[in-house]
Parts: sequence; structure tokens; C-alpha cells
Amino acid sequence: MTTTSPLRERAENALGYAARQLRRLVSNHPDYFPLYTEDGKWSHEGEAWTNWCEGFLPGQLWLIHQQTGDPWFRERAIHYCRLIEHRATDTSVHDLGFLFWSSWKRWYDEDHEEFQRHVIIEAGQTAGSRFREKGAYLPSFVGPQSIFIDIMMNVGIIYYAARQTRDADLLRRVNQHCLTTRRYLVRGDGSTAHEGIFDTETGEFLRQSTHQGWRGDSIWARGLAWALYGFGTAYRFSGDARFLQTAEACAACYMEHTPSYGVPPNDWLEPEPRHPHESSAAAIAASGFQQLARLTTDPLRAQLYGGKARRIIYTLCAPPFLIDEDDGHEGILRRAMYHERRNLGVNQSVMWGDHFFLEALCHYLNE
Ligand code: GLY
Repeated sequence: MTTTSPLRERAENALGYAARQLRRLVSNHPDYFPLYTEDGKWSHEGEAWTNWCEGFLPGQLWLIHQQTGDPWFRERAIHYCRLIEHRATDTSVHDLGFLFWSSWKRWYDEDHEEFQRHVIIEAGQTAGSRFREKGAYLPSFVGPQSIFIDIMMNVGIIYYAARQTRDADLLRRVNQHCLTTRRYLVRGDGSTAHEGIFDTETGEFLRQSTHQGWRGDSIWARGLAWALYGFGTAYRFSGDARFLQTAEACAACYMEHTPSYGVPPNDWLEPEPRHPHESSAAAIAASGFQQLARLTTDPLRAQLYGGKARRIIYTLCAPPFLIDEDDGHEGILRRAMYHERRNLGVNQSVMWGDHFFLEALCHYLNE
């Protein structure tokens, strides 16, 4: 007789639940790209701050399709991919990796059609075109003086485009951005700053800062999770051991500061935060830990990172994080945070949290 582990049982239940929530979202709000819920509902007039989340809905639909084979999810995923195709030339945001790696890259992985590869390359080239020689970085959407730790999640698509087109200059730019981020936003203890500010005239680095964390010198948990995952990706594409070392330093910092059940607050250094959890950071970290487990050649570390990912998934697959199916909430995970200072998505569901949770969940189920 075969027995199912408690984690597998939780994960399978969570996957079925996620599929039902996504089906409801797409049926109830056709062609709508949500960012965060308000009072548990996706559709509202709340501001976006910036448009970076449109890939996460098709991304989730692809993940469910890959896991279940259900053609309805494939058909809807393609539909939503098509709706964002024009964004491949959008130079106004730093987020084209978020948009296209989650969505079009998964489509390409299924079909291997040339037009799909072309869109992904175009998005990677557009993202790389934002590079500034003075300072050697890809600026954030906020302005030319600003670099975000989040941008590390968008370097994979630039590496991909550089490789596919054999563009040595694009490769140089993305490598330099990663090195600049490592130098100015990652600290000696593996913690990270959210934002860095440069003098645009000279390229001199001026200071660390933040929008979504507590202070410029504190540790915004989601930013650290982006770095843990993003530097792992930079290593995966470049083979530069410095990026693996940085990803592992970020992983050590995450483990050092987070309770054993795996979910951090929005900022580890904020005294008495109003809300104790930022579940989207945990979901991103789980997927980042899974990637690190695959990248390291040290079996003990692989075990450590794999175990940490499983522990986070186990926690997220149950209340108070996984939403009870019948309470009317439209998301998958609760207790996430988008932007507390602007009062956007505070203690709510967020699209990227649900996306990276599903990514980690599916990866675990396929292990
Ligand atoms: N803009 C990316 C984030 O909120 O994490």
C-alpha cells in the first residue's frame, strides 16, 4: 500500500483549490489583470503604482495546465499571453522578465514556435535597452537615478535574449547590472536594500533607500527573496560563481531572520509591524530555495535548501495562509503585502504571491 505524505496531501489539495480559484477569477472578471485584492476581491479601483503584474495570471494558468493537462487552462493562458504581447516593446518599466518569463516563456516551452521565441527575445532586448553606462545599471521605473533589487528577477530574460542572438554587448550590460546590484544593494551580511540612488551625471552611487520596506538601511523581506531567486538565476545563465555566492548569502540571511515555519514580516527590522506576515516573500523564497537546491553542487546544501522550500510550502498550504474555499475571498494566499506606505494590498492576496506559490507547489509535486 502506498502512503501519501502530509505535505503531498496538502500540496495536492492546494493545487486543486488554486485551479478552482483561478477558474472563478477568469470567468468572473474576463480579460482583467489583477494585482492585489481589496477586502478579498480582485476587481477594484485601487491604484497599481506600476504595471508589472500582467504576466502572473497567464503564468498561473500555464502552471495549472502543465500540472493537470486541462485544455481550458491552456486556451485561457494563450488568450492572456496574447493580451500582453504589445508590452514586449514597453520601455517604461523594468519588469519585462516578470511579464514574459512567467507567461510567453512557458508557452514557448510547450510549443517551441518561432513567433513565441521572437516575443521573448524582443522583451529581453527591450529590458536591456534601459541600461545606463554611467553607473552601469538598469534603472527602475521610478527614474534614471534609481535601481531596485526587484530588477534581479528580470535579468534572466535579458541573458536569454543575449544568448539567443549572440549579442555580446547585451550580455555585458546584464552582467554589469548584476555586479552593480551585488556591489551596492547586497550587504556584507547577505541582507539587501530595496533601492539604490545614483548621481546620474557622474554615475556615483549615493545611498540605499526604500519604497516598500521600513527604512533604507533595513531589510525588506520581499526584496531579499527577489535577490535570493534572482542571483541564482544570474548564476544559472552566466556561470559566474560570484552570483551563486550572493544568492547563498541572501538565502542564509533569509533563514537567519525568519521563524522556522518560513514566513517573514514585510521588513525584518521594523519594530512592531502592524501585520506579522508577508506571505508573497515566503512564496518567492520557496521557489528561489528550490532553484538553489538544483544549482549547488554540495549535497548538504541541496538538502538544506530543498528542506527549507518544503517547510515553507507546508506552511503556506494551510490556514492562516491558504484561503478557506468558502469564505468568499478571491485569492489563493492571504496575508501578503504590496505597498504599505501607499496602503495598497495591505494584508491581502497579491498576484505574484499566488504565482510563485503555485510555481513552488508544482515544482514540489513534480520532484
Ligand atoms: N515591484 C515589485 C514588488 O512590489 O515586489
